Amino acid sequence: MMTHIVKLENNLDHKAIEEAADLLKSGGLVAFPTETVYGIGANALDSEAVKKIYIAKGRPSDNPLITHIGHQSDLSQYVTEIPKSAQALMKAFWPGPLTLIFKKQPSILDATSGGLDTVAIRMPSNPIFLRIIRESGIPIAAPSANISGKPSPTHGSHVVEDLNGRVDMIIDGGPVDIGLESTVLDVTQEVPIILRPGSITKEMLESVVGKVTLDPHLKEESHAPKSPGMKYKHYAPKGHLTVYKGNEEMVIDAINEATGQMTFKGHKAGVIAVSEHLSAYKCETVIDIGSETNEREIASNLFKVLRDMDALEVEYIYTRAFTESEIGVATMNRLMKAAGNNLIVL
Ligand code: TXA
Ligand code: MG
Repeated sequence: MMTHIVKLENNLDHKAIEEAADLLKSGGLVAFPTETVYGIGANALDSEAVKKIYIAKGRPSDNPLITHIGHQSDLSQYVTEIPKSAQALMKAFWPGPLTLIFKKQPSILDATSGGLDTVAIRMPSNPIFLRIIRESGIPIAAPSANISGKPSPTHGSHVVEDLNGRVDMIIDGGPVDIGLESTVLDVTQEVPIILRPGSITKEMLESVVGKVTLDPHLKEESHAPKSPGMKYKHYAPKGHLTVYKGNEEMVIDAINEATGQMTFKGHKAGVIAVSEHLSAYKCETVIDIGSETNEREIASNLFKVLRDMDALEVEYIYTRAFTESEIGVATMNRLMKAAGNNLIVL
């Protein structure tokens, strides 16, 4: 398949928006930026089109997709009830990086919802994506635009690397804003449950609806996750990733020791470091993920840094755990999945 790649950084070229909308309406696949990560979209009401997403990504078919809508008023066509909590949350956070799980209407295909009786819905704020949805007049099913298992794409070049030749069109809108996928919140229960942490934090949700709980899986891996997608190995770089937690100096010493040993054995080692620690590491390959005082910067760089390690063919990757407040909860959730939970506590 020939992929039409279009760069759309600081303008909203109407021709490109129209082309993307036409492709989606006729059953094609289009990749585009969102405020969270890049997405690969198809007409959510066309099962053949939706199936193509699973093929392009190599995604397991029991992992349901998020349906993206262009107006809040579209919601009632797809869900059977809109709880009060959801109304308040939509008012506060839509358009934006919050996905809500509702009981679904039959209009939502099994191909989109993975056979569940619920559906995930989000209204994005990224102006390119929002305009494409509105122009097309259809709901867009869209997962992250990476090959299944790889880190989610946060730059147009990541999408080209994974999906060139597998989709009809790629819109390169430059680096995304947040860099981690949306918060997924189940509002079908009395007390809403966070299934996937994101930039809309537990505290932010609670400030609107009172109590919110975390899927037990997020605290203790041994619990099965309520969200099908959370059970898969994810976000993983090719290199073997180890996360160290604990006293700053002890961790730096341990990582220096580990990279020294790997290098001695003839392997390529690399370290992911906060800007403040760059000079503390002796390894030849150290990548800066951002200042330890800026959780949002670290979040937005995580997936890129993992891909950069792959590009440098690093075989063993080491990092210290990041602060787990605010968006750091989501950053650490993705980092631990990328590491297959390989954690050393000192
Ligand atoms: O930020 C985002 O959410 C991005 C952009 C493109 O919008 N999309 C995204 O999609 O991350 P994806 O497919 O990579 O992740 C969707 C997550 C998966 O973990 C999936 O299992 C979960 O949402 N999910 C979808 N429908 C669900 C449902 N009915 N119940 C529980 N979890 C659901
Ligand atoms: Mg994904």
